[in-house]
Amino acid sequence: MFPIDKFQNIETPFYYYDTELLRTTLNTINNEIGKYENYCVHYAIKANANPKVLRIISEAGLGADCVSGNEIKAALEAGFPASKIVYAGVAKTDKEILFGIDNDIFCFNCESIEELEVIQQLAASRSKKARIAFRINPDVGAHTHSNITTGLAENKFGIPMADMEKVIMLAKNMPNIEFIGLHFHIGSQILEMEDFEALCNRINELQERLEEQGIVVQNINVGGGLGIDYENPNQKPVPDFKSFFEVYAKNMKVRHGQKIHFEPGRSVVGQIGTLITRTIYVKKGTKKEFCILDAGMTDLIRPALYDAYHYIENISNPNGVSKEYDVVGPICESSDVFAKNYDMAETRRGDFIAIRSAGAYGEIMASQYNCRPLPIGYLSEEFK
Ligand code: LLP
Repeated sequence: MFPIDKFQNIETPFYYYDTELLRTTLNTINNEIGKYENYCVHYAIKANANPKVLRIISEAGLGADCVSGNEIKAALEAGFPASKIVYAGVAKTDKEILFGIDNDIFCFNCESIEELEVIQQLAASRSKKARIAFRINPDVGAHTHSNITTGLAENKFGIPMADMEKVIMLAKNMPNIEFIGLHFHIGSQILEMEDFEALCNRINELQERLEEQGIVVQNINVGGGLGIDYENPNQKPVPDFKSFFEVYAKNMKVRHGQKIHFEPGRSVVGQIGTLITRTIYVKKGTKKEFCILDAGMTDLIRPALYDAYHYIENISNPNGVSKEYDVVGPICESSDVFAKNYDMAETRRGDFIAIRSAGAYGEIMASQYNCRPLPIGYLSEEFK
């Protein structure tokens, strides 16, 4: 599966992106949303902003969900049209907002009254109208890691439901603001469709409330969140987009002419990426054997930060007898561990080790701690 012979002369660690799988995933998304005339998908750039990966996603016709001025810049450079860019974030700076206004992005997902006032002022300074949607905190829990739930009342994101009518009225009275919709996002790595169903029910309630006030919403953005199978990256590498879109189609009451927007990140790129690293030493400790890699938490921080599981395989010795290792990195931190008591084919110095399902929140979250270089990302087609 991996062109190991071609890896020999490349410095490790690096990210390897399977572009065939990416294209299959994108085709699946396009086929599924093709069934519904009002669905728009904005890829969440935060999951992976590698310019080569972004280019392929923009060529498939998706829009972009951005959370900073630089993400908007990366999206534009990769060919995403401004008319398909949405911009969320709790702390948009004046410079970033102006960048969005000057580029005529589709929509600001506004997270507070304070921010609304600043967008109004800045849009006025350019004699423009800024389109905004309010990010409402739906207070819907998701069965996922507590660090990546976002839709609970205790989280910093969005505007409380109780304030919804008030902020909409404020926005409607602002001359340089065009209120165009509502935005939600309940969290990430969600595998239980009931969680999305709960969001649909909440949106239905809120829409009914608004209708009583005679308010019609043109756009509903339901965020991202669809999870991937980290344990079995080979089994069904394309996530279940069919069920994901169906949950919304079945449970959300859509008004005439309303557009539904989605912001998937992980589900688009998670399974396409593998961190390729080498065993530097196999060290016998008093109780354990350590497989020490040249990749560390600086290259892939998910295990250290969220206790996340990633499937690890010795691709130099795929049929080798299995041994138990603590798979660790070179960084001077005890949390620099990819897996403890992990069964993997016996490894020797120099073996290539693949850390799978690392396409989302991998390369983009890398750091230079210990003066390490940032990992490079290569597309599979570069090895042809
Ligand atoms: N929309 C909004 C408003 C978001 O905050 C996020 C992710 C997404 C869309 C995309 O969600 P996805 O489809 O990827 O679940 N670094 C963590 C994940 C953080 C997610 C942040 N927000 C991780 O490695 O698990």
